[in-house]
Amino acid sequence: MIELEEQEQAKIDEIYLKNEFALKMLETELDILLKSYAYEMKYNPVEHIKSRIKTQESAFNKLSKKGYQINSYNLLNHVHDIIGVRIVCSFLSDVYEVVDLIKNSGQYSIKDEKDYIKNPKSTGYISYHIIITLPIHLTDKVEYVDAEIQVRTLAMDFWASIDHKLHYKADNALCDVKEEIYKCSQDIKALDEAMNKLYEKTLKK
Ligand code: GTP
Ligand code: MG
Repeated sequence: MIELEEQEQAKIDEIYLKNEFALKMLETELDILLKSYAYEMKYNPVEHIKSRIKTQESAFNKLSKKGYQINSYNLLNHVHDIIGVRIVCSFLSDVYEVVDLIKNSGQYSIKDEKDYIKNPKSTGYISYHIIITLPIHLTDKVEYVDAEIQVRTLAMDFWASIDHKLHYKADNALCDVKEEIYKCSQDIKALDEAMNKLYEKTLKK
């Protein structure tokens, strides 16, 4: 673990405290938003939700990898996913419903948005990402914290977690593994599209 100057470590601990507050808020707000949607629509698009706070160690590694010095300023400005929430849906069309629901809720400003479903990453990774900014009300002020929300189907989640285990974190991933796993992501995409057709024929009717 990296040793930081005491004052700098204190600033980073404060950032982390605010992120912990923000995650509590976000989890509750999303829970309410998604449950009220399910109630009104008589249909629940969500299979499960997972959230995490990125460890300081992992945030520092990310800064180093991106070529930034490890300090509170860079942590605030260059790591937008200390808070990560993953919403796993049943069907492809549910992903877009959930994304729209969050975007139109008016509770967050949308800082960035990446549709890796329409534009998959070169690895084959498919998901929809939104980076939001949310307000937290402290004793004497309002502060703003970023969070990354990943919305994906069960099939995309299956692919991503296997991919992660196989090579995402490894620097020297084997080329043929990369190629094979890329091909698997295309199968996942086809499967999601086929399942979505079934959804349209049955549940959506
Ligand atoms: P980092 O990839 O986190 O450095 O930030 P970025 O700004 O490049 O964002 P990006 O949208 O590319 O990725 C953010 C997150 O998406 C990652 O932390 C992973 O959770 C996930 N992700 C992105 N690419 C892949 C991938 O190829 N495989 C897997 N399994 N997950 C990925
Ligand atoms: Mg990346």
